Amino acid sequence: MASSDLPPVVRTVQEVRRHLEPLRAEGERIGFVPTMGALHQGHLSLVEACARECDATVVSIFVNPTQFGPHEDYDKYPRSLEKDLEALAPWGVDLVFAPAVEEMYPPGFQTQVLVSGVTELWEGRSRPGHFAGVTTVVAKLFHIVQPHVAYFGHKDYQQSVVVRQMVRDLNLPVEIRVCPTVREEDGLALSSRNAYLSPEQRQQALVLSRSLRLAEQMIQQGQRRTETILAEMKKLYDQQPDVRLDYLAVVEPDSLLPVEEVAGPVVVLTAAWVGQTRLIDNLRVEP
Ligand code: PAF
Repeated sequence: MASSDLPPVVRTVQEVRRHLEPLRAEGERIGFVPTMGALHQGHLSLVEACARECDATVVSIFVNPTQFGPHEDYDKYPRSLEKDLEALAPWGVDLVFAPAVEEMYPPGFQTQVLVSGVTELWEGRSRPGHFAGVTTVVAKLFHIVQPHVAYFGHKDYQQSVVVRQMVRDLNLPVEIRVCPTVREEDGLALSSRNAYLSPEQRQQALVLSRSLRLAEQMIQQGQRRTETILAEMKKLYDQQPDVRLDYLAVVEPDSLLPVEEVAGPVVVLTAAWVGQTRLIDNLRVEP
């Protein structure tokens, strides 16, 4: 931890460029953590890794409207810039970019970055248009900040796969680092959306991480048939009538295609509604 001063905040693309040009000219390695704010320990673990591995750390805070569906939580998504800046203070963050929507999407904006294939499964199926919003804003942020390295959480596993694919396909000169999911002691994966949960719903939400742990245990005890694993996971969900399961899957880590037999590393994915709140979680398992 380098300092406890609040990090400098800029609102425009031009100011980002002005701040970062001298650092780039001095050959500093620039690390970037894109966020939508409402920062928790999961985000801070990315900032911590970035500060450790890079000379300069840039964080963006932007609730990106284009990655929310029309009936999703864009309007109520938690916004807490002052608290976020205080949370970032100990990490010696060099710059926070917190643009207004009009700065990122000025009138007349007409471009989308679309990745196919890996965006068409799981989250892509449940949230049409979501990944187009993510890849468009991440591509823009990469062009604005021009980082050497960018940090993403394993919690949004499919997002990290999609971003890697975009970086590869568009030859973007940025290294993607994916950092482990941070969990509460009882296993709940940290998420800004956990703030929506009542105490009872928070308890019910544990079914996501418990079902993943069950899958891990079964694989480590030698179970290879994903049909059997998924059926046992489903039974845990059935014990939580107030949780509406969206999907459960055991997938190959790069293609995200479902596997029938576990023969190598897999990622177990799940998404569910707890009341009005949609949560996702995943776990990488090596047999
Ligand atoms: O993971 C998130 O918080 C967002 O999807 C991201 C990467 C900041 C893009 O808006």
